[in-house]
Amino acid sequence: MTADLVVVGSGFFGLTVAERAASELGLKVTVIDRRHHIGGNAYSETEEQTGIEVHRYGAHLFHTSNEKVWEYVNRFTTFTDYVHRVYGVHKGEVFPLPINLGTINQFFRANYTPAEARALIAEQAGELAGTDPQNLNDKGIQLIGRPLYEAFIKHYTGKQWQTDPKDLPAGIISRLPVRYTYDNRYFNDTYEGLPTQGYTAWIERMADHPNIDVRLSTDFFDESQPISKGNVVGSVPVVYTGPVDRYFDYAEGDLSWRTIDFEEEVLPTGDFQGTSVVNYNDADVPYTRIIEPRHFHPERNYQTEKTVIMREFSRFAEKGDEPYYPINTEADRAKLLAYRDLAKAEKDVLFGGRLGTYKYLDMHMAIGSALSMYENRIKPHFEGGQALV
Ligand code: FDA
Repeated sequence: MTADLVVVGSGFFGLTVAERAASELGLKVTVIDRRHHIGGNAYSETEEQTGIEVHRYGAHLFHTSNEKVWEYVNRFTTFTDYVHRVYGVHKGEVFPLPINLGTINQFFRANYTPAEARALIAEQAGELAGTDPQNLNDKGIQLIGRPLYEAFIKHYTGKQWQTDPKDLPAGIISRLPVRYTYDNRYFNDTYEGLPTQGYTAWIERMADHPNIDVRLSTDFFDESQPISKGNVVGSVPVVYTGPVDRYFDYAEGDLSWRTIDFEEEVLPTGDFQGTSVVNYNDADVPYTRIIEPRHFHPERNYQTEKTVIMREFSRFAEKGDEPYYPINTEADRAKLLAYRDLAKAEKDVLFGGRLGTYKYLDMHMAIGSALSMYENRIKPHFEGGQALV
């Protein structure tokens, strides 16, 4: 095998490392992915009946305040001026989210000034003042008061975790943002937008280099193929972005994750909900939210009388499910420490990305951390002969 570097996983982390190593150092990089497509969870494709771009693994909104990441991603794509906003349905009524002055005034049928709203929420949060909440339910009440907590947080969180918030640890939330203005822009970052020609076009451009060889439908643990763990570790440096517990054959136990089931439906209407994301905050609706992807790209003016929607159902992941959000219980944290020790001792293998580090990472964070790994570890190794640790 002729590669200088093997990258396991073609998500944003793996492709950023591969692109830098190939473009800047001229290395020959082999990227493998067990899926049939590149891009990891950011992959998108065109829904056949409507021609609308759908994000295959859940809605992906790009946002960052990191100048270095912004400069880097703009080498491969331009971005639209999409600004993300979310609405939520409670008792048959639509409210703007995250909770802001508009939500508060609509909910209490009032015309509070920012100061009045602040005083009201402080008073309502006072119900559990001076206590040390041990569960998420009490913590939520202490942070924003019972009325808003029970309307917008309690059941939504219960559905996300498939667990009554009274049985969830308080530590899951440290704060619940409430804005005392009418600003309902979802992200606060300097830069925000969607790739003009879609995620897959962006991702393909990152991999489009003569020194990058991408092999799809190739599992690193399939020893019958040449780029497997047994065949490359020890002879070629590896950047591994798959699940860290899988790499070590679950020696320290399984790390726990939440997953999402997507129920996709094409509807005979041009517009189902008038916006891209609507949350369902009550317990009587089994899904957490509905995504309508046509609204991610109003500038495309999709010429179709149909639309596509995705209902999202959240649950604990079992073996074989897509791991989406780390659960991070105390037991998980203990296992992770043990896996980190094993990872450190694994010669010439670097672990990165959301699966390799068991951390939820937004896209800009995955790209930023891949750029750091490249600068601090990969480049010094290949340029200066430093050990790849
Ligand atoms: P990623 O999971 O993308 O890639 C890892 C790759 O490794 C996969 O392609 C996998 O197939 C491959 N692999 C695993 N095991 C392998 C093996 N044994 N052999 C070969 N290949 C293997 N971010 C954001 O900024 N805005 C957003 O709106 C969202 N929304 C969002 C929604 C949902 C539901 C999720 C789960 C995540 C988001 N994200 C997000 C986060 C975003 O998806 C994340 O930042 C990137 O996926 C991280 O890229 P990685 O390369 O680390 O992992």
